[in-house]
Amino acid sequence: MGAINLDMETSNYKGIPAMSPPEVHQYLNELGRGWTGQGVAMEVGCWLGATSVALLEGLVEAGYDRPFWAFDRWSANGAEVIKASNQKVPLLMGQDLKPVYEKNVSPTYAKLKMVKGAIPGTFRVYTRDSIEFCLFDAPKCNPVFRDATKFVVPYFIPGVTVFGLMDYYFYKRKQEQQHADWKKFLVPVHFIKKYSDHFTLLREFSGFGMSAFFRYEKEISWE
Ligand SMILES: C[S@@+](CC[C@H](N)C(=O)[O-])C[C@H]1O[C@@H](n2cnc3c(N)ncnc32)[C@H](O)[C@@H]1O
Repeated sequence: MGAINLDMETSNYKGIPAMSPPEVHQYLNELGRGWTGQGVAMEVGCWLGATSVALLEGLVEAGYDRPFWAFDRWSANGAEVIKASNQKVPLLMGQDLKPVYEKNVSPTYAKLKMVKGAIPGTFRVYTRDSIEFCLFDAPKCNPVFRDATKFVVPYFIPGVTVFGLMDYYFYKRKQEQQHADWKKFLVPVHFIKKYSDHFTLLREFSGFGMSAFFRYEKEISWE
């Protein structure tokens, strides 16, 4: 399990810098092992691949043989350079991180569909397979969250799909830090509330984890 530095809220998974804690990685591993064979796995906001590897290790154990969809801008910004250096991995401002992601993840699973650029626009290349695991670690507020959700949910499988909202409780941090715009980070919470009949909470992680994982239970007919 990776070392953790609470000040910078980074950890690492097998040496790959992560913006999520070890308990979330462990849970992703567990989720992957439960793959039922009914759909693909996708991560939206993968950074250097720690969370992808954690999920993929479990998926591989379960016999996963589909493409793994990875969406990210993969262009290092200042905060990412600092967070990676905190885990002793040097990055340069503006560095193309797609090769770094590929190098980190491909030893675990080679059938990667890496799509670089801003979502939701980049979703246009998606082959529209049913989705069994969908991790969101990029869309946090609107319009991106709404557009991204409207795109992926129609491919979810009722009673099967796990929807991981990796920054579900991000608004709390913004509130504590007295950010004027903290309410805009409530969007994922409002979404789940609005469709509470359609999702069951599986696990939630407070503090540095901030994530919540839901099972999609029944079809949403969009208004
Ligand atoms: C919080 S990091 C992901 C961290 C990773 N899941 C982990 O736990 O280590 C969020 C990622 O989302 C990407 N991102 C943010 N907004 C995006 C957008 N609109 N389109 C594509 N990628 C985006 C960033 O480039 C960054 O790599």
